[in-house]
Order: sequence, then structure tokens, then C-alpha cells
Amino acid sequence: MKKRIKIDGLPFETFISEEEIKREVRRVADELRNDLEGKSPFFVCVLNGAFIFAADLIREAGFNDSVITFVRYKSYDGTSSTGNVKQLVGLNEDIEGKDIVIIEDIVDTGITANLMVNDLKKRNPASIRFVTLLHKPESSKTGFKPDYVAFTIPPKFIVGYGLDLDGKARNLKDIYINV
Ligand code: HPA
Ligand code: MG
Repeated sequence: MKKRIKIDGLPFETFISEEEIKREVRRVADELRNDLEGKSPFFVCVLNGAFIFAADLIREAGFNDSVITFVRYKSYDGTSSTGNVKQLVGLNEDIEGKDIVIIEDIVDTGITANLMVNDLKKRNPASIRFVTLLHKPESSKTGFKPDYVAFTIPPKFIVGYGLDLDGKARNLKDIYINV
């Protein structure tokens, strides 16, 4: 049974359940654990949307010497991408020689993702991996390809599990789609 809710008057229904999210978070965590065996990953959580995914993913991945830090960009207003990316909180740490794992909530145009990766590459990390909870390949304007994707979804507006509509609905345990 689909749950239906309204946020700011917009109708949404359940699209990805809490159980499916847990299963895919576990799968991606397993892949990271295998691929980064013997390394000490430096996780970079992209605020605000990725905070819940990152919290679940890094605990599930279970590295005992990983580091987590946070960056923040802004490109979205309400339900539309502005294509105009602003960095609100940058990365102050020295990342030279580190194995970076960027954790995003969603890749759609790929503009923010591209910008971040290019920016971090200049700072000589040992490696950069890009993980996203959601990927909307049909919205891509850059051809950016994340290394790890929990769910590939159509180009529709979604909320929940960290994703918002003007700051609302991040707390929902399931992911909802605008209908
Ligand atoms: N929902 C919420 N935030 C977003 C989305 C979306 O579908 N795409 C990019 N940021
Ligand atoms: Mg957002």
C-alpha cells in the first residue's frame, strides 16, 4: 500500500521504502569495504541532503579508522535546479594522499558533482570515489557518472531520507515521489 502525503500543498506518494533503502545502503557499504580494504577512507558528506545517508552508510561500512567531514553547496531552489552552484562550507583539511569518498544524496544535472570532484582533484588526494544515494541520469547536463549508486531514478522530484522540499521532509524514513 502506497502512503500519500502533502508537503506545502504538493502531493507525494511512497516510492522507495525504508526496507529497500536499508538493503541498498548495506550493498553500497559492502562494496566500499571491499574496494577500500586496508585503507583509511576520508569521507566527505555533502550537506544538507546527504546527512542521513552518510550516517547510515559510514556506520554500516564499519571502517575503524575512517574520518568524516562536511561540505555544503547550494544549487537548488524549491523543486528546480538553478544550475548556479555556490559553495557555502568548504573543505579546510589537507587531503593530500588521502582516499576520498564523497557522499551525496542525489546527482541530477551533475554540475555540483563535477565541480566538487574537479576541485578536490587539484589537492592531490590518493583517490576520489563518488557515492550517491540517488542518480537521475536523464537529468544529466554533464555526463557525470557516480562510482556508486544506491538507486537510479526517473527525473521526478522526490523527498525524504535527507532530501527536502524547501527544508521540509528530510526526516521521512521512506523516499516519496511527487505525483
Ligand atoms: N528532491 C530534492 N532535492 C533535490 C532533488 C529532488 O528530486 N534533485 C536535486 N535536489
Ligand atoms: Mg536539497
